[in-house]
Amino acid sequence: MRTREVIEAEAKYLVHTYSRPPFVLERGNGMHLFDTEGNRYLDFVSGIAVNALGYGDYEILETISGQARNLIHTSNLFYTEPQVVLAKMLVERSFADRVFFCNSGAEAVEAALKFARRWGHENFSSPKVRILAMHNSFHGRTYGALSVTGQNKYHKGFEPLLPGVDFAHFNDLDSVKKVLTPQTCAVIVEPLQAEGGVVPAEEEFLRGLRELCDERGMLLIFDEVQFGLARSGELFAYQHYGVEPDILTLAKPLGGGLPLGAVLVREEVAQYIGPGDHASTFGGGPLVCSVGIKVLEKLSDPKFLMRVRENGDYLHDRLRRLQARRSEVKEVRGIGLIAGVDTEFEAKALVEEFRKRGVLVCTAGSNTLRFLPPLIVERRHIDEVVDVFHEILEQT
Ligand SMILES: Cc1ncc(COP(=O)(O)O)c(C=O)c1O
Repeated sequence: MRTREVIEAEAKYLVHTYSRPPFVLERGNGMHLFDTEGNRYLDFVSGIAVNALGYGDYEILETISGQARNLIHTSNLFYTEPQVVLAKMLVERSFADRVFFCNSGAEAVEAALKFARRWGHENFSSPKVRILAMHNSFHGRTYGALSVTGQNKYHKGFEPLLPGVDFAHFNDLDSVKKVLTPQTCAVIVEPLQAEGGVVPAEEEFLRGLRELCDERGMLLIFDEVQFGLARSGELFAYQHYGVEPDILTLAKPLGGGLPLGAVLVREEVAQYIGPGDHASTFGGGPLVCSVGIKVLEKLSDPKFLMRVRENGDYLHDRLRRLQARRSEVKEVRGIGLIAGVDTEFEAKALVEEFRKRGVLVCTAGSNTLRFLPPLIVERRHIDEVVDVFHEILEQT
């Protein structure tokens, strides 16, 4: 199919949940994607924070083909080795005692909410079922995840949502204290609100949440689906802050581009979940977990993490220098290899200008550009993107 045929067929046969730019991606290599017309794009989207190792990583490809020849799927009715190896690796590298595998970020959030409510039911004689979430958060599109997402635009037309959810202001502990009730069993928060505009949590805020949860008998859930797994410069974002949750959700980069989500939990939470309480047909299959093992090995290498920190600092430094020179740039935010830049222009229009110049970036709200490069990015790629940004601002 040629480019135009693909675009026309998409318009005819798919549910219109996405609005996409008019090109068709065909292959990728390292930091670059190529479309069906042979155009090359420097990728600062990473399939929305998924392709941490870029495109065509040799070891990932070898792992996929090797494991695919052996066994792709069994269901969770049976033991498979890659699943337990990956779970052990996640436990050994984190605060957690146990892992539940699923297929996506939203599913990881669903499981986290269910586990928290189960803990609340088992531990308290009076109702302990409410979830406290943050305004401007994003946790996914399934009903539970959507219900704790603090942005009305995603709720519209899908109500009624899950009952028992309250919202407080992000980075505002007083607001949290006002909204908490004796029935609150868990607080869910992103250590960095990514979809909500690339807004990092303040350390004091997360520390305060941890203390409140300990004092008032609530679980702390960190949603690290987008910011976790090395993007912050630490393997887990909570390690950047030095504040440990009780439940942690992961997904995006874990499967190396294949669907894999995980929920990491303390024993205190896991003890109340037994056979039949929660499940997933596909979750944690041997193929995805084999890839997850490779991805995790690579992302937890201290040298890899150091490079993420160095390149993250370089990205933020270059963007701040651009801000100093161009008054159209209002604010630069982020940690590690995620950056959000507010400008006086509509972000969507800027994304289009980048694309015309062979660079893919995305938005995080109407005026915020989001930069999410694969974690293998080098300085020369960052230079190219910031230079293109400068050129766009000069010509707009
Ligand atoms: C923090 C966070 N949680 C959950 C999700 C949902 O993940 P998925 O799209 O894999 O369901 C996202 C997706 O962007 C996210 O950023």
